[in-house]
Amino acid sequence: ADSLRALGDRVGLRIGTAVNMDELGSNADYTRITAEQFSSVTPENVMKWQLVEPTRGTYDWAAADRLVSFAKENKQLVRGHTLVWHSQLPTWLSSDGYTTTLSNDELKALLKKHIQDQVKHFKGDIWQWDVVNEAFDDDGKPRETVWYKAWGGLGYIADAFRWAHEADPKALLFYNDYNLEFTGPKSNAVYDFVKTLKAQRVPIDGVGFQGHLDTQYGFPDLQNNLQRFADLGLKVAETEVDVRTFTEAAPNVNTPTTPLASYAQESYWSRALKACLAVRECISFTPWGFGDTYSWIPGWFNNPQEGAALLYDADLKPKSQYYVIQQDL
Ligand code: XIL
Repeated sequence: ADSLRALGDRVGLRIGTAVNMDELGSNADYTRITAEQFSSVTPENVMKWQLVEPTRGTYDWAAADRLVSFAKENKQLVRGHTLVWHSQLPTWLSSDGYTTTLSNDELKALLKKHIQDQVKHFKGDIWQWDVVNEAFDDDGKPRETVWYKAWGGLGYIADAFRWAHEADPKALLFYNDYNLEFTGPKSNAVYDFVKTLKAQRVPIDGVGFQGHLDTQYGFPDLQNNLQRFADLGLKVAETEVDVRTFTEAAPNVNTPTTPLASYAQESYWSRALKACLAVRECISFTPWGFGDTYSWIPGWFNNPQEGAALLYDADLKPKSQYYVIQQDL
């Protein structure tokens, strides 16, 4: 049967994956699947500030450069992830994203230099940049991160988009966040905010819907949300899709759980993909990795009952949700 990327090509949709650079190149199956199945790649970690500038003033682009070369060899596009975030900052800048010993003026100068240097380093090689990640809370209030505090408000976001656009005018610039899939205070606040950015002629091209879904919370009205953002004149993308499942008695986060849970997961994957297919401006569909062993879910949620969130199992064999997606494409 055809690969996901070949099927996606036929309908003009890029099928992406997050890539773990500890596996790419050293793990043969992992490397083969990345090349065979996906037409877009996102570095899961290696373009984050913590990894590119672990020591103040010294850049380390090696792992990210390796991904960009791999993408070129395999005719894949790259989603750059991510320039402005409160999480995974280098410790010299902030250990929690909300507090810092640096002054506001220093922070402003640092963010500008970070964006200019990083976007220039990858100039011409990045299809979509996640310029700003997760700036709002679930209640729709701006997160009061070090960036918010330094600017005394959300002004850092418009500056970030302008600096990124100057550094690589051809890259598509995205705001990226989770829970935008659901209609509610957060997606409403982000909707109003990006509408203002557009009205102010800030160079924003798209909104990324992370899509970290969980079968215990119900399937969101994703298509409507993709569509209303698209109707603002923006592209949209599903950027970090995974479908975790909660089961009382999951013995192992890396193996699917009960027949019922796995049926729900298939349905969520199918509906998430179909929502993108139904919206003309939805340009890419990116699962957050492809093997349950490498998924961030069990580690992050620190709960042995949450997991099995991806399309491939712990042996890198496609699961039923893979075949469902393949049918839908
Ligand atoms: C996660 C990675 O998958 C983990 O390896 C890392 O330890 C933490 O970050 N939203 C995002 C991603 O935008 O960058 C996060 O990735 C998952 C949530």
